[in-house]
Amino acid sequence: MTPIIEMKDIYKSYGKGESRVEVLKGVSLTVEPGEFVAILGPSGSGKTTLMNLIGLIDTIDSGTYSIDGVDIHRQSDHTYARIRNSKIGFVFQKFNLIAKYNALRNVELPLLLQGETSRIAKKKALATLERVGLGDRWHHRPNQLSGGQQQRVAIARALVGNCPLILADEPTGALDSKTGQEILRFFQDLNAEGKTIVMITHDPHIAAQAKRIIRVEDGLIQSA
Ligand SMILES: Nc1ncnc2c1ncn2[C@@H]1O[C@H](COP(=O)(O)OP(=O)(O)OP(=O)(O)O)[C@@H](O)[C@H]1O
Ligand SMILES: [Mg+2]
Repeated sequence: MTPIIEMKDIYKSYGKGESRVEVLKGVSLTVEPGEFVAILGPSGSGKTTLMNLIGLIDTIDSGTYSIDGVDIHRQSDHTYARIRNSKIGFVFQKFNLIAKYNALRNVELPLLLQGETSRIAKKKALATLERVGLGDRWHHRPNQLSGGQQQRVAIARALVGNCPLILADEPTGALDSKTGQEILRFFQDLNAEGKTIVMITHDPHIAAQAKRIIRVEDGLIQSA
């Protein structure tokens, strides 16, 4: 089987000269299709940096990275965007929904950006909102939804393009523990249906609900 994520000896630093910060110092990481992995580490350990590299939001300084068998070395931004759109659904701590759009529009957006017709985009977005239990809320804007509901809309947006990998950075960080638990259970259901999930968290109780925990400390992976 081709790993969905294969990183070898990744380095990443920010800044120059005296203000230079080495954030990742030789990270290697393999995630197979169908895994549910938590990346656990304290604040400042480099988790979001790692997520941005995995998600092709930022570029690695050195090392190799293949996503679903595709070597991402020195590709154009256009190619990164294409790989990102077809492979990765993102879920963020603060939901990152577009405030002026209703739930349906937020979920349709990735499809419309990929050139899907508005009829098909609407049909798929509605079906995905139903999948996350919000079929009756499609016309609500984010500020008319609870935090848990907003995160469900964000998950629907991550799912609608049928990407194999869900990448989530502290997806329960802005939610109370009961709502956070519901979101986690939802991730477990998605994983049972075959989605690969990589979830970043600083909370060991949240991480314990994944199938595997990868610990990041001071820019290095401590156990995999
Ligand atoms: N764009 C940047 N420029 C300079 N330094 C950065 C940048 N992004 C991150 N850093 C530094 O890299 C280190 C790791 O940051 P990162 O955001 O990856 O940590 P984290 O593990 O996600 O922390 P948290 O749990 O608080 O979100 C920190 O010391 C941070 O100050
Ligand atoms: Mg972070």
